[in-house]
Amino acid sequence: MILILLGAPGAGKGTQAQNLTKSRGLVQLSTGDMLRSAVANKTEVGLRAKTAMDAGELVSDEIVIAIIADRIEEDDCKKGFILDGFPRNVAQAEALDAMLAEKGMKLTGVVEIAVDDEALVSRITGRYTCAGCNAGFHDEFKKPQVDGVCDSCGGTEFIRRKDDNEETVVSRLKAYHDQTAPLLPYYKERGVLLKVDGMVGINDVTRQMNEALDNL
Ligand code: AP5
Ligand code: MG
Repeated sequence: MILILLGAPGAGKGTQAQNLTKSRGLVQLSTGDMLRSAVANKTEVGLRAKTAMDAGELVSDEIVIAIIADRIEEDDCKKGFILDGFPRNVAQAEALDAMLAEKGMKLTGVVEIAVDDEALVSRITGRYTCAGCNAGFHDEFKKPQVDGVCDSCGGTEFIRRKDDNEETVVSRLKAYHDQTAPLLPYYKERGVLLKVDGMVGINDVTRQMNEALDNL
């Protein structure tokens, strides 16, 4: 199964991708996570990507397409994968089509997680992740079972993203509406677009997602 999760910043792509990796044994390929790791490790890609990421703008297509092209060659992608945050514009979608065609692979579906813009700021500003295993949490909407302890790995150190502030969120939302939202008609025309209501609680979104995927 090859899935794309599409949605605005804070819509729940990462949260639902983490659930699907557990329930369906698929690998999560998050370009945002890969780029953040490159920035943290000060690699050449990280140094080139940092300014755009800090400003909430898209990193160049050349960089992200190369990252995904390399990543899907790895063995753990053979059984399928979930793309979280890629493609982000039509040029990236066309590059993905070409990559999959070359490998004889087919896109199973694209799930839009639809969330109103007004709900996104609080989701983003309240978000934090486990420094050890990257599990995602929220100050209000997804607290760990034991305060200060990661549910997944027991870690006690958490991090907040540098771009998770109100000013950068405005640029990220603009980038989404201008460049990423045109992918909705792109995939609708190809008959692969599914939509879930992302305005409900996390478990209800997961339920809708599973129903949509089971019906594919
Ligand atoms: P990226 O990391 O992809 O960020 P994003 O698209 O802005 O999306 P987020 O990760 O912020 O949101 P999410 O949908 O994953 O939400 P989450 O599940 O965490 O990209 C970052 C940057 O990297 C970009 O700005 C760009 O510079 C660069 N980049 C990445 N990919 C690129 C590409 N392909 N091309 C060019 N540049 C690229 O949920 C958010 C919070 O809400 C969490 O705390 C969660 O617990 C909570 N939550 C989730 N679902 C619900 C719910 N249903 N109800 C209540 N709370 C919820
Ligand atoms: Mg994410």
